[in-house]
Amino acid sequence: MRAMLYEEPGGPEVLRLVEVPDPEPGPVDVVVEVAATALNRLDVVQRNGWFRMPGFELPHIAGMDVAGTVVAVGDDVHDVAVGDRVVIDPSLAGVDDRSVLAGRGDLFGDLGIIGATVAGGYAQRCLAPASHVHAVPDDMPLEHAATFPTCYLTAAHALFEVGGLDAGETVMIHAAGSGLSTAGMQLAKHAGATVLATAGTDEKCERALALGADHVVNNRTADVAGFAREVTDGVGVNMVFDHVGTALFGPSLFGLGVHGRLVNCGNSSGDEATIPSLGYLFHSGIRILGSDPYRPEEFGPVWDTFCQGDFEVVIDSEYDLADAAAAQEKMLRSEFFGKIILRP
Ligand SMILES: NC(=O)c1ccc[n+]([C@@H]2O[C@H](COP(=O)([O-])OP(=O)(O)OC[C@H]3O[C@@H](n4cnc5c(N)ncnc54)[C@H](OP(=O)(O)O)[C@@H]3O)[C@@H](O)[C@H]2O)c1
Repeated sequence: MRAMLYEEPGGPEVLRLVEVPDPEPGPVDVVVEVAATALNRLDVVQRNGWFRMPGFELPHIAGMDVAGTVVAVGDDVHDVAVGDRVVIDPSLAGVDDRSVLAGRGDLFGDLGIIGATVAGGYAQRCLAPASHVHAVPDDMPLEHAATFPTCYLTAAHALFEVGGLDAGETVMIHAAGSGLSTAGMQLAKHAGATVLATAGTDEKCERALALGADHVVNNRTADVAGFAREVTDGVGVNMVFDHVGTALFGPSLFGLGVHGRLVNCGNSSGDEATIPSLGYLFHSGIRILGSDPYRPEEFGPVWDTFCQGDFEVVIDSEYDLADAAAAQEKMLRSEFFGKIILRP
């Protein structure tokens, strides 16, 4: 099969379209003919060598968010059949010992993740444990399903499992045009929260409003903490959902009200952050929470909610597999809103 692979870290030139052997399923595995793979920032930062998931190995085929059609099943697979349209849960937590991918990771050591630590969807075919594929409804295009896994599960876990977001609360969500935040904004609205969105351009702010955000501000030109206070009549927001990291850490903290929660699940602008005022932190009882990986049992319920159709699928653009480098560079320049799709 054709796959976009890299053997060493570097710029877009390290990506090579090569022929590799087809994946062979173990007794409880399936092979999926990839129809669509959505990009994530991790694809680019691992390729550049800026950050590595524990468990990452070279050579690597990226692509965590994969949807397609099952073309082979292992001997002990009875609930998934050749021809099924599926989306893959890429987290390799809770994998049966009979899988080829067993023992490749857990939640807190090596993070076994299809497309992040083992071969993913930048290829014609992708291997997954049968327990980690979910049926795609007949009327859902496969590229829509590919926008779902990493973004929706990470956002849902951060907002609800870690952050405990409730109906009626206010949440500020940064980088509104990112994959994670287009999911996070919609999940928060769906749960009955008021959403304050921030983004790096006025155009992205307008897109966030159209997607359901209640209030928006440009985080490169405005006082983000002041915005949060103004919108909440001086009280501050209940939660900040952040994966930008360094650049917005201080304003996020000062935008929170008493007992506010800053939930972090990423570090796109840098890995270091300074608490600008410990006094503000303890007087206000602020909680800073790291959002750990989602659990296998969380995937199904969030997928069911997504399939009910209340969510707008936000696809920025589609590329052929051969043009993966151009797609990744577009992501790195942040010239997108929503998800970028590869078509193997
Ligand atoms: N914890 C987990 O399980 C998990 C899962 C998935 C992703 N992540 C992490 O979450 C982050 C986002 O992932 P993603 O795939 O959704 O990324 P993405 O779609 O590429 O979006 C990243 C956004 O970050 C914003 N940004 C970057 N530098 C900035 C700066 N200096 N100031 C303000 N905003 C800045 C940009 O927004 P603008 O366009 O508005 O400038 C950019 O579009 C990454 O760090 C990723 O590794 C974590």
